[in-house]
Amino acid sequence: HITPVILCGGSGTRLWPLSRKSYPKQFVHLMGEETLFQASARRLSGQTEALSFAAPLVLTNSDFRFIVTEQLQAVGIDPGAILIEPEGRNTAPAILAAALYAHQGNPDAVLLVAPSDHVVPDIAAFHDAVAQGLGPVGQGDLVTFGIAPTHAETAYGYLELAGQPGQGPVKLSRFVEKPDAARAQTMLDAGNYMWNAGIFLFRAADVIAAFETHAPTLMAPVSDALAQAKTDLGFLRLAPDPWAQAEDISVDYAVMERAANLSVVPFASGWSDLGGWDAVWRESDPDANGVVTSAGATAIDCHNTLLRAEGDRLEVVGIGLDNIMAIAMNDAVLVADMSRAQDVKLAVSALKDKQ
Ligand code: GDD
Ligand code: MG
Repeated sequence: HITPVILCGGSGTRLWPLSRKSYPKQFVHLMGEETLFQASARRLSGQTEALSFAAPLVLTNSDFRFIVTEQLQAVGIDPGAILIEPEGRNTAPAILAAALYAHQGNPDAVLLVAPSDHVVPDIAAFHDAVAQGLGPVGQGDLVTFGIAPTHAETAYGYLELAGQPGQGPVKLSRFVEKPDAARAQTMLDAGNYMWNAGIFLFRAADVIAAFETHAPTLMAPVSDALAQAKTDLGFLRLAPDPWAQAEDISVDYAVMERAANLSVVPFASGWSDLGGWDAVWRESDPDANGVVTSAGATAIDCHNTLLRAEGDRLEVVGIGLDNIMAIAMNDAVLVADMSRAQDVKLAVSALKDKQ
């Protein structure tokens, strides 16, 4: 059995105004019938010939706990446990808490840590990649999943392959989290790097050992927060006082950049982390003019444009637009140049400052 660990504590500010602090992108209807969180949970359930998933461990914060239970129930998935973080301290404390929790229940537990806000259309290909990762996991490696890079992206981690990418897993010689543009370009040109998909497979015991070695200051606060956790309506609430002592750091910086026992399974199928409205536009099958419209949105003579009407009885019309994204809600409207998709998070901080 593989135990999925689903991280859904992020706030997704670059997809404002649809994604809100109180209802972030993984829980909203961004594309298709299911929310990204529901699609992630389904992708991490069931069984194939090569693998089977145990009930997932979900890590989130108090505000989202009932959204999580409702959305899981709607797709017929029973969570193994829902751990509530008193406050977001980023992915390293969250993953360590999950690993310690799973290890208590089963010292041999194998975890598949996955974000809840990605799009992975080919589930069979994904399961195949996970099954391939079980090889190096058996050798004690921390396994990453690699995406062939297409540009010098600075929002991702980069994986330096120690060998030639063949059919199966490859050893890593280095993990570089979010390089600046110049280093990203150098790694892209070098040819032996992949993007980190942000999905990890390892034995709970191995990742705990990696935390002990590379991020020892997290051990006491996180294990105390778990030891003093309180059960509340089926949720496991980590204790706030020790938790507040845990450093706010991502697993990529805390462990992956420092560990030597890393492997990668190259993943050639579609993957997107929907890091902005431009990615949503790209993943939503633009028509021949590059236009994507939601129900309630009409594009007349537009090119490379995303128009979404997200409110009740709301109509949005675009005429003669080029490279524009417009997202209209009942209480907020975003209109921006497509090339400024990453700057949408500036809108969120600008509005915060106004209050
Ligand atoms: N429970 C919980 N608590 N979840 C969290 C927290 C937290 O404090 N912080 C972030 N998450 C969740 C997010 O909701 C997301 O699903 C996942 O953890 C990853 O966090 P991000 O903040 O989105 O990370 P990133 O996108 O900047 O970088 C990671 O993903 C990239 C690929 O998308 C890294 O692993 C990169 O190396 C990688 O390339
Ligand atoms: Mg992300």
